[in-house]
Amino acid sequence: MLNTIRALAVCALAFSSLAALGAQADEAILIKFSHVVADGTPKGQGALLFKQLVEERLAGKVRVEVYPNSSLYGDANELEALRNNEVQLLAPSLAKFEQYTKQLQVFDLPFLFDDLDAVNRFQKRAKGRQLLRSMEDHNIVGLAYWHNGMKQLSATRVLQMPGDANGLSFRIQPSVVLEAQFRQLGAGAQKLPFAEVFKALQSGQVQGAENPWSNIHSQKLHEVQPFISETNHGVLDYMLVSNSRFWYGIPHQIRMELEGIIDEVTYAVNRQAEAANQADRQRILDSGRSQVLELSAEQRQAWRDAMRPVWQQFETAIGSDVIKAAQTVNRKHRD
Ligand code: SIN
Repeated sequence: MLNTIRALAVCALAFSSLAALGAQADEAILIKFSHVVADGTPKGQGALLFKQLVEERLAGKVRVEVYPNSSLYGDANELEALRNNEVQLLAPSLAKFEQYTKQLQVFDLPFLFDDLDAVNRFQKRAKGRQLLRSMEDHNIVGLAYWHNGMKQLSATRVLQMPGDANGLSFRIQPSVVLEAQFRQLGAGAQKLPFAEVFKALQSGQVQGAENPWSNIHSQKLHEVQPFISETNHGVLDYMLVSNSRFWYGIPHQIRMELEGIIDEVTYAVNRQAEAANQADRQRILDSGRSQVLELSAEQRQAWRDAMRPVWQQFETAIGSDVIKAAQTVNRKHRD
């Protein structure tokens, strides 16, 4: 009798486990995609296109929820949330990974890349691709690079020569390279989350910042920064990342489809990012709220000379092989 009860109990347990697995198999995989910028920016548009394509092609199998504008997680906690699988996709700026790898600091070196095309070439070459895997020990897998654009310097005063920045305090992303870059100018730097930039500039907590045109325009930074110098001194790009355990746990066929969608979205984002930034530059000009200063070749060279010592400071941490590989992508290779 006891044996019969035990056998029935085992059967019931097996049945309920199978039922649970079945229920899981029927449930769509949920991907929460969190980011800190507005929907209208290159990254915001990329996140929405990803959601749209997944809904069209993987309906019932995968569901995507997009949370823009730091509405779910912000700079301070999003990577930790990803590692804990509380969110499954992020696309942080490349300046925000230094806790997990120093190699990505290469993207913060001032005047390393001549333009976004050069950045693109580096990201496509072997060394750039290798960096997508540089955080796997931390359970973070890089899936793609997404462009935003080249950064411009904005401030409460005219910045034509490097000495003009002396004594100002600039908002920076959490990057020791960016901190060193402003130190070279005799300026201060404060690491602040993106969601706090407008208020910090408006209140005078900081007097300057560095951003691509799309971030300046979408955050209305030009309304509190009367001068923007078109320095193109560095890049602000993104890495689309997921939690490695989550990502490689997705059934193979579905993961292949998701990776195909990511390739398509990456192509669309990267093709449109430069045009989107130029359109926002024009909107800023049209607004009349901020004066855009174009630099002469000599002025730009002076900024380059002032910031260039930062490369040596970080060469060991980043790796001279990584820096060299990045330098060779410029049309005119400079040492
Ligand atoms: C972003 O574009 O994701 C924000 C970059 C920043 O913090 O400046």
